[in-house]
Amino acid sequence: MARQFFVGGNFKMNGNIKTIKDIVNNLNNAKLDPNTEVVIAPPSIYLLLAREHLREGLEVASQNVFDKPNGAFTGEISVDQLKESGITWAILGHSERRVILQEDDTFIANKTRAAVEGGLGVILCCGESLEQREAGKTIEVVTRQLQAVAEKVKDWSKIVVAYEPIWAIGTGKVATTEQAQEVHAAIRNWLKSSVSAEAAEKTRILYGGSVTEKNCGELAKQPDIDGFLVGGASLKPAFVDIINAKQ
Ligand code: G3P
Repeated sequence: MARQFFVGGNFKMNGNIKTIKDIVNNLNNAKLDPNTEVVIAPPSIYLLLAREHLREGLEVASQNVFDKPNGAFTGEISVDQLKESGITWAILGHSERRVILQEDDTFIANKTRAAVEGGLGVILCCGESLEQREAGKTIEVVTRQLQAVAEKVKDWSKIVVAYEPIWAIGTGKVATTEQAQEVHAAIRNWLKSSVSAEAAEKTRILYGGSVTEKNCGELAKQPDIDGFLVGGASLKPAFVDIINAKQ
């Protein structure tokens, strides 16, 4: 069964009303591969703006979501608040939140469970630091991050995994196709042994880390790379070329 190619744009804390509208208009007017699922994740203050202007068929993701339904949680957004606003995805477990905001595996797993049970799609990020890679611990780190989620979430049909080696994020140092494929294949094996054979077959595994219109073509040819989670390049018109990487 072919997995639908998936390309997400993680704008991180970038953009303003004008530039977000420009990006959305550019996507609305572009010829996008109809076989690619496209999701953009602007900063939370622009989620509604993006949803309002983005054409049907293209989806919007939050860069975070909380695990409680409502209440005294200053600064947080709930699953239902996102859904009511037409936001259908959330990015969780991004290394910037793990490292800078000190989110741990359990917290990320709790948020993933709340999002999935509430009906949101989750782009679940994992990835190792340079130090961990050099110590030969890449697969151990990535599967530990995913295992924490597997302990709380049995149904992975709404989860897309994004493998993002920290050393490749925003550095211009993209993982080689071999490095990426090797980890993606290991994640798929892990899915088979720790979630289910069905999850291993159906779960999209994205690569993220310095993806550009120049390197996406080769990466997209790898058998276990089912799309990309794009940071910097998603803010540029060339994001369209990454969406169309399979063409
Ligand atoms: O979530 C996407 C990301 O962390 C990769 O960022 O700028 O290296 O494409 P970038």
